[in-house]
Amino acid sequence: MDGNGRWAKQRGLPRIEGHRRGVETVRTITFAARDLGVRILTLYAFSVENWNRPKDEVGALMGLLEIYLKRELDTFVRDRVRLRTIGRTQELPAGVRRLLRLTEEKTKDFADYSLVLALNYGSRTEVADAVQAYSAAASAGREDPKGCSWEAFRRYLYTADLPDPDLVIRTSGETRISNFLALQAAYAELVFTPVLWPDFTKADLAKALADYAQRERRYGLTSEQVRPGVSP
Ligand code: IPE
Ligand code: MG
Repeated sequence: MDGNGRWAKQRGLPRIEGHRRGVETVRTITFAARDLGVRILTLYAFSVENWNRPKDEVGALMGLLEIYLKRELDTFVRDRVRLRTIGRTQELPAGVRRLLRLTEEKTKDFADYSLVLALNYGSRTEVADAVQAYSAAASAGREDPKGCSWEAFRRYLYTADLPDPDLVIRTSGETRISNFLALQAAYAELVFTPVLWPDFTKADLAKALADYAQRERRYGLTSEQVRPGVSP
């Protein structure tokens, strides 16, 4: 979700106004994605690197997150949205942590649609945490200390009980992954759009999904192997 700051700057507004509008986009896209058939929507809301932004911006983002969670709790329960998180959430402010725990608990039985918030998330941090957890399990005799497979290792990632993303969309014209689900997105389709996040609409999402639907996913195989019977 990139481009909040630029959206505000273009209008001569403070950056936080862009973030405020970005939250409105989060609310629209959460339900737009479900309408369009998405089962799991993961939003990169705050990265481990974002702590290094000016102190007042970080404070404002945490404040917005708290307001958002308070405001959405009843909506998630009513509309059966399961809230999950990935990232070092234990380092978030206490008020945010409390609301996350409460919302996760109240929505944990909703199986059809999940909103995953990546908060204080970074792929490299995730790998470091997973290696630590894996080696602790190996020392305790729960994993083989002599061999490690991807299937065994992935169970120590924050995404242990989530499937890999099929599609990763980045807004605002940047064409980078920026430490987002780097391992999980190894085979994801990527869509880059110039639209700034506060301007991103259901139509933009539908366009990205249509683009995705045109792609042939080969996972290292040949086109003939993945589409048997279809002549080139
Ligand atoms: C993304 O928008 C929102 C967060 C990181 C929370 P930015 O704040 O990165 O917007 P730009 O890149 O300055 O336009
Ligand atoms: Mg940015």
